[in-house]
Amino acid sequence: MSSKGLFQPIRIGNHELKHRVVLAPLTRLRADPETHVPNEKHVQYYGQRAGNGGGLLITEATNISPMAGNYPGAPGIWSKEQIEGWKKVTKAVHDRGSTIFVQLWHVGRATHAVWLPNNAQPVSASAIAINGSDTFGIAHEVPRALEINEISDLINDYAKAAKNAIEAGFDGVEIHGANGYIIDQFINSNSNQRTDRYGGSIENRTRLALEVVDAVVKTVGADKTAIRLSPFTHFQDVDDATPNDTWGYLVQQLQNNHPDLAYLHMIEPRFTFEDSAGASEHNLDHFRNIWKSVFINAGGFGHDLAGAIEHAEKTGDLIAFGRYYIANPDLPYRLQQQLPLNAYNRATFYGAGPEGYTDYPTYEETQIAPVTAATA
Ligand SMILES: Cc1cc2nc3c(=O)[nH]c(=O)nc-3n(C[C@H](O)[C@H](O)[C@H](O)COP(=O)(O)O)c2cc1C
Repeated sequence: MSSKGLFQPIRIGNHELKHRVVLAPLTRLRADPETHVPNEKHVQYYGQRAGNGGGLLITEATNISPMAGNYPGAPGIWSKEQIEGWKKVTKAVHDRGSTIFVQLWHVGRATHAVWLPNNAQPVSASAIAINGSDTFGIAHEVPRALEINEISDLINDYAKAAKNAIEAGFDGVEIHGANGYIIDQFINSNSNQRTDRYGGSIENRTRLALEVVDAVVKTVGADKTAIRLSPFTHFQDVDDATPNDTWGYLVQQLQNNHPDLAYLHMIEPRFTFEDSAGASEHNLDHFRNIWKSVFINAGGFGHDLAGAIEHAEKTGDLIAFGRYYIANPDLPYRLQQQLPLNAYNRATFYGAGPEGYTDYPTYEETQIAPVTAATA
């Protein structure tokens, strides 16, 4: 029997997974807007997706410090209260036999002074604003380039957040190095025009990512550390002149220095927010060939289930599902049994209450005949 395939077991760090269907990190903005503490809704949401056990869940992007971004409703992992809130989430997931990593987030320039303590100016690699407005319709501000001595504080914040994550019961942390947030703002050539050791050459632009990985590994161990990367993304206005070379170098350094990371997670260039798998002239093969260990692939697989099954069988990769895991709390079961999927509702992706969060039915629930007055 092949050891590859979506429903073959695999080891991640110290955890044996029963299958390779992963909950992708998904921002849902339902934490307390002031304290950024996760609540009972989170316990229920992640508990539902822990299913019958044996799966890997990655949380929504989670702020490493008050300065990390602070979108209203995004959770944090810097305060005692937040750690206590997350403890209930990790317990619910562990009680059902699944594994959970928290995604560590600093948005850099992708925020606004109004959301930061003391209305501080957002920070980034360089003083270059994102073009246009954000999803809330607010025009982006010009950020302040981090001073070189502030970069070590930033790295420390990732390490502290990782330590807090372990205290909160997480099985590991995924460093968010993707989608145009601060680490990616350093990596991409159009958002980094620094002239110090963190800008210019590929070695310099990838230095922050690699130093964050070093610091987190030192704090919690390689088996509890992972990173997510997205070569070719233009989200948040990032663009790189030589993606294959840039991320090829970065992945090679990870392979050389940290071959025992829990996993490497990358996003397919074909990913699009439109309701299709999308298409791209690029793919992840170049990086996948460099990385020799556990690999998670994401992007458009919910719109291409046959492609997901085939890809997992061919490569042994885990596949992270985003939008269809929002709508199908029992997604691994449905995929294994080849059952139809619930559609997702884009209008309830972000914010608000339980609607579109914890009220999507499992397949079994969709089969229960509605209770009528006569039988009730
Ligand atoms: C509502 C929503 C929120 C997302 N939030 C995050 C996030 O917090 N961190 C992250 O790395 N990616 C985030 N993504 C990207 C997803 O993790 C995933 O890469 C993307 O949705 C592609 O997978 P899919 O085609 O299966 O949906 C988000 C996507 C959606 C739709």
